[in-house]
Amino acid sequence: MCDQAQGIRNLVSQKSVTIPRVLAVASGKGGVGKTNISINLALTLINNNQTVALLDADLGLANADLVLGVYPQYTLLDILTGNKELGDIIVDGPLGLKIIAGSSGVYELANIDQLTLSRFISMAVHLNQDLDFLIIDTSAGLSRNVIALTMAVDEVLVVATSEPSSIADAYGLIKTILQRDPDKEIIVIGNMVRSPNEGMLIWQKINIMTTRFLQREVKYAGCVLYDQKVAAAVQKQQAFVLAYPGSSASRSIQQLAVNLLQQDYLWANSSDESEPMV
Ligand SMILES: Nc1ncnc2c1ncn2[C@@H]1O[C@H](COP(=O)(O)OP(=O)(O)OP(=O)(O)O)[C@@H](O)[C@H]1O
Ligand SMILES: [Mg+2]
Repeated sequence: MCDQAQGIRNLVSQKSVTIPRVLAVASGKGGVGKTNISINLALTLINNNQTVALLDADLGLANADLVLGVYPQYTLLDILTGNKELGDIIVDGPLGLKIIAGSSGVYELANIDQLTLSRFISMAVHLNQDLDFLIIDTSAGLSRNVIALTMAVDEVLVVATSEPSSIADAYGLIKTILQRDPDKEIIVIGNMVRSPNEGMLIWQKINIMTTRFLQREVKYAGCVLYDQKVAAAVQKQQAFVLAYPGSSASRSIQQLAVNLLQQDYLWANSSDESEPMV
């Protein structure tokens, strides 16, 4: 059984520091909004008095830094090649967000082994003794790297849109994760939806498949509405919660952050199943 997340927790608790929640943001299909959700969720959690670090682990094609308009001098590659310490490569983003940059275009990073990744995550967790959240933006799909990362975190946030291929690929990812760790906490987030009900439908479709074929339920944290302000903010290389705080996408993310903070998830056995969440 892979319980590296437990290993990291033990390591941290021995040092009696705050134990951050380590969340990986993943998806089966690409382009569903992982990077935008990771960044804007991180900033919204900061707005909710949390200390947050963001690891751009879209290894080989990192882009969280580009979306934020932050250009770090050193990246994950410098750590993995032993040139730098973690503290040297962290840059401060907006609102004091700590950003650990991946390494754009360095394709050998796509084959880092699981032990190295886990060691790296444990380093990141030790980085700041007051860290409440470490959010990891991953690349799409079932690469060895993504699966290794999901094994090393507490919770996997699976982002999906209403497109049938996105839902099918989300199920494929969840199946691969649960085959390796049947107890892994999986939390679905709907993105680019026109209504809260459309978001819930994404979760219900995925949950029907996991319940039927994997005998496991997945939880639902909420959704982000389709909002043209997201693309507009990307164009400006700004996070949409900062560029357009009153937009519907920003309001969705706020609700999502509150649900994650309070671990107020919807799942089939929960009592408030009929209550729609944005
Ligand atoms: N809620 C939304 N409303 C409207 N557009 C959105 C929304 N979320 C994301 N987008 C758009 O979708 C595109 C892809 O988003 P993003 O880069 O965050 O996806 P990704 O899952 O990280 O992609 P990749 O798999 O390539 O890493 C962006 O151009 C963004 O503008
Ligand atoms: Mg991305």
